[in-house]
Amino acid sequence: MKKFGLVSSAVLMMAGATAASADEISVVCSAEQDWCDLMVAAFEAENTDTDVLMVRKSTGETLAQIRAEAGNPKIDVWWGGTGDPHLIAAEEGLTQASGVDTSDLLGWAQNMATISEGKAIGIYAGALAMAYNSEILDEKDIAPPACWADLEDPRFVGEIQVANPNSSGTAYTELATFVQLFGEDEAYTKLAAIGQNVNSYTKSGSAPSKAAARGETGVSIGFMHDMVNLAAQGFPLVAVAPCEGTGYEVGAVSVIEGARNFEGAKAWVEFALRADIQSRAPETGSYQVPSNSNAEVAPESPDLASIKLIDYDFATYGSSETRARLLARWDSDVGDPNPQQ
Ligand code: F6P
Repeated sequence: MKKFGLVSSAVLMMAGATAASADEISVVCSAEQDWCDLMVAAFEAENTDTDVLMVRKSTGETLAQIRAEAGNPKIDVWWGGTGDPHLIAAEEGLTQASGVDTSDLLGWAQNMATISEGKAIGIYAGALAMAYNSEILDEKDIAPPACWADLEDPRFVGEIQVANPNSSGTAYTELATFVQLFGEDEAYTKLAAIGQNVNSYTKSGSAPSKAAARGETGVSIGFMHDMVNLAAQGFPLVAVAPCEGTGYEVGAVSVIEGARNFEGAKAWVEFALRADIQSRAPETGSYQVPSNSNAEVAPESPDLASIKLIDYDFATYGSSETRARLLARWDSDVGDPNPQQ
C-alpha cells in the first residue's frame, strides 16, 4: 500500500479488514508469466499510487477460485485466459460490467462483450494447434502429424502431452473444438484414442509445448502463438494447423463482482484495452493477435486468416451447463490417470 502508512494498515487490521485499499488492485493473470509481469510494471509506472498484487493461474483454476470466493472476492480483476470460462463467470454472476469504451476493438472482441453483457471483453485471439519436436521425431523415425486424426496413431504412443481441460482453458478449447468438429460422441472417441498416446496431462495449457520444445515429449497440443514463441527462441518446435480445421480462443478480461477496488479494476481494463499497451505483448514473446484495431500485430503472430478455423460457438461453449457436462464426460470417457495437484 503506497498511500497508507503503518498506522492506517494497523487500523485496517484491527478492524478485521482484509480488503485491498483503494491504491491496491488484486489481479489474477492467466496469460504467460512474462507478459503478466510486464503489464504490472507498465500499469504501476503510469499509476504510481497503485500497487498491483498479481498471481498467475490457469483459466479453469481461476474460475474455480472465483466461484469459491463468491460473495467475498479476493480478486478485483481477471486478465487473460481463454474466453469460455470468463463467459461462464459472467453467466454465473461472478463478474460485472465495467462500462469501458470498446469501440476500438475488433468484432470478435466486442462479441465477447455482447454475449456477456459487457462483463467479459476480448483482449486477444489465438488458434489451437499441434506442435512437434523435429529432432525427437527424426531420431525416433516417427512421421510428423498433419491432422488431429494422426494423433490417434500408435506411432505416437507415449509421445503426446496436453493439458487437463478442468484446469486449463487451452485444453477446454481443445475439447470444445473436437465436439464442434466431429460431434460429441465421435469427439470423445477420438480424445480417448489420443489419450492412449498421452504421457501426461498438465495443469497449464502452455506447459506441453514447453516440454516438447525441451525434448521431453515429441508432440504437444496448445495455442499456436505459444509454439511460435518457442520456435523463435531457437527450439526445434514445428507448429501445425490440423488438416480438419481447428478452434481458437478469444482471451478476455473481467472485473469481479463485489471487487473491493472497482475503480482500480476499471482502470486496469481500460489500460489493457489500449492499443499502445497491447502492442507491447511481443516484447515478452506473447504473439496473440491483439483485440484493439489500432494495436500493432507482431510479424511472428500466426495469421489467423490463413488457418482453417471453425466458427467457434462461444455462446454455447462458454455456458456453465455445457462446460460442466463436457468436463464430466471427459473425466469419465478420457480421464487423467495421474491428476496433478
Ligand atoms: O500462454 C498464453 C496462453 O496460451 C493464452 O493465450 C491463453 O489464454 C492461456 O495461455 C491459457 O492458459 P491455460 O490453458 O493454462 O488456462
